[in-house]
Amino acid sequence: MNSTIVKLERQGAIAIVTVDRPEALNALNLRVFAELESVFLDLARDPSLRAVILTGAGKAFVAGADIKEMADFGPIQARAFARRGQSVMRLIESFSHPVIAAVNGFALGGGCELAMACDFRIASEKAKAGQPEVNLGVTPGFGGTQRLARLVGRSQAKYLLFTGEIISAERALQIGLFDEIVAPEQLLPRCLEIAQTIATKGPVAVSYSKHAINIGVEATLAQGQEYEAELFAQTFATQDQKEGMAAFILKRPAVFTGA
Ligand code: CAA
Repeated sequence: MNSTIVKLERQGAIAIVTVDRPEALNALNLRVFAELESVFLDLARDPSLRAVILTGAGKAFVAGADIKEMADFGPIQARAFARRGQSVMRLIESFSHPVIAAVNGFALGGGCELAMACDFRIASEKAKAGQPEVNLGVTPGFGGTQRLARLVGRSQAKYLLFTGEIISAERALQIGLFDEIVAPEQLLPRCLEIAQTIATKGPVAVSYSKHAINIGVEATLAQGQEYEAELFAQTFATQDQKEGMAAFILKRPAVFTGA
């Protein structure tokens, strides 16, 4: 697909994906979903990729689902739109490599949901977050009622959802919605620094760690540990395990290939 809104840049093993629709504060419509899906599916096929940074152009990360596109929906279209958004969020959440949200500005409604589908959220001091759907007479539809409660606990999630309050980056950090806040000009450098650190590690181990956490938080402790033991076992089938342990013993840096 020819991407006109979702821009892809590469810095070595790191991909920077930018939703670039600043005139609508990067609002999510069907076109944006199609492009996000296409970009992530292409990236999934790239063996040299190690991490993705997802951000927005201009003053917003993403200011929500596109209100102008949704305004005339009936329930059938609304359900289909929610399912479409949810499937793109799941694609990002279950993406084989880490996806870091670089929250540069407003992360509201669907934008907050998109940020929560990423593995963690590094935010500019200028960023703001919230689920203001109640102001429009609707609920979140892209996983916000589910991921927010899991991330910040049900009381904080209910507070944000019931009041529609737009909170500062500092408050989002306090409640665990953001993981770190930095000066605006440091946002991309800091995300790149984290992504580059990840890129030096065993890629299969990173990917399995991500999946073990994602599966484990939805499972019982016993099921999660069962899955963990299986993934641990599978890492011993990789050359990277031999390399990582040999490098430790020989006191030299490991060079991982993803094999
Ligand atoms: N959808 C469509 N267009 C949007 C938008 C959205 N979510 N958010 C902003 N825009 C548009 C505005 O309509 C405006 O367009 P025009 O210039 O054509 O009028 C442009 O982006 C710039 O926005 P503002 O002039 O409003 O910018 P501001 O700085 O004054 O305000 C803001 C910024 C507080 C983020 C405000 O734009 C706002 O409240 N946006 C809506 C936020 C929102 O309600 N998000 C939730 C959407 S519902 C949802 O996401 C449901 C779901 O989970 C599925």
